[in-house]
Amino acid sequence: RSVYSAVSRSSSKLVRRGYATEPVPERKVAILGAAGGIGQPLSLLMKLNPLVSSLSLYDIGGTPGVAADVSHINSRSEVAGYQGEEELGKALEGADVVIIPAGVPRKPGMTRDDLFNINAGIVKSLCTAIAKYCPHALVNMISNPVNSTVPIAAEVFKKAGTYDEKRLFGVTTLDVVRAKTFYAGKANVPVAEVNVPVVGGHAGVTILPLFSQATPKANLSDDYIKALTKRTQEGGTEVVEAKAGKGSATLSMAYAGAIFADACLKGLNGVPDVVECSYVQSNIIADLPFFASKVRIGKNGVEEILGLGPLSDFEQQGLENLKSELKSSIEKGIKFASQ
Ligand code: NAD
Ligand code: LMR
Repeated sequence: RSVYSAVSRSSSKLVRRGYATEPVPERKVAILGAAGGIGQPLSLLMKLNPLVSSLSLYDIGGTPGVAADVSHINSRSEVAGYQGEEELGKALEGADVVIIPAGVPRKPGMTRDDLFNINAGIVKSLCTAIAKYCPHALVNMISNPVNSTVPIAAEVFKKAGTYDEKRLFGVTTLDVVRAKTFYAGKANVPVAEVNVPVVGGHAGVTILPLFSQATPKANLSDDYIKALTKRTQEGGTEVVEAKAGKGSATLSMAYAGAIFADACLKGLNGVPDVVECSYVQSNIIADLPFFASKVRIGKNGVEEILGLGPLSDFEQQGLENLKSELKSSIEKGIKFASQ
């Protein structure tokens, strides 16, 4: 009998160990601009994420419909829609992650910087509210021009006394998504296995894919690498032109935004080794206080900014070429926010 009970005790321990799961923490995610081209599919993807317990959808209009629609999906999170500035506080209160795809997109012939005049003001007012209602949230900035909107957010938070550089992220994941797709096509390797870091910023030549570090390795010619680099840098323009006046990337951006927000949630939940490229406050390149590179995300946001690793001559040249544009976009954002 004693043997039997010993076995049953140990097997019940085993069973408990085998099936014991840490409770998944409650996490509120707010999407600002949730009724837009990115906001709607991003709302859908975040509703599908089991790490989210509360999904807060905010826009200046249209969110009651988007929220009602998405809320019928039988997944974990509760969904609430908030519309108009008077409801922004409620939308943000208690948020762990705030994703911002609010603002106007490009039309053919425009640069991302051409969006500055409208989007800078939108970002400034949304970040003022974040500082007031959820100062500890991780902020995922999607609104363009990201090279300037992230410095604007930093200045707004500094003024409010809430700035924590570890909690502010420019979302450059779409550049990585594109680099992976384009590389897999040329290198003829399984796309799901591909990794390519993309560093710098998020506009034209400031987007610097490091194909010399791409895995799985493939011996692509210099001409192929040049063409892949150009296509990655102009991926956004490729979509803007194909949409012919009806906006910019929305579906691939929603996918990329969902990947990045998921990484933030995993980091907050203590999952080890969560590494993504992101445009963050950084000191890895002199004179560029914001720079995209691989970052490790943890319970407090950015845990570590990883170095660039070895660059090819072509990439080293690309790094030199992006510095002046990125510097002036950063300065433009800081100047706007301090006015
Ligand atoms: P969209 O016009 O379809 O949607 C934008 C939404 O923002 C609209 O629903 C609008 O009502 C809302 N909005 C405007 N002002 C607001 C405010 N003050 N508060 C809350 N919501 C507000 O545009 P989109 O295609 O979804 O693009 C949104 C932004 O994302 C653009 O600036 C675009 O350039 C940028 N973008 C960035 C990336 C990236 O890689 N980081 C990729 C694609 C697009
Ligand atoms: C993108 O890279 O698709 C976005 O930044 C949108 C744009 O204007 O290109």
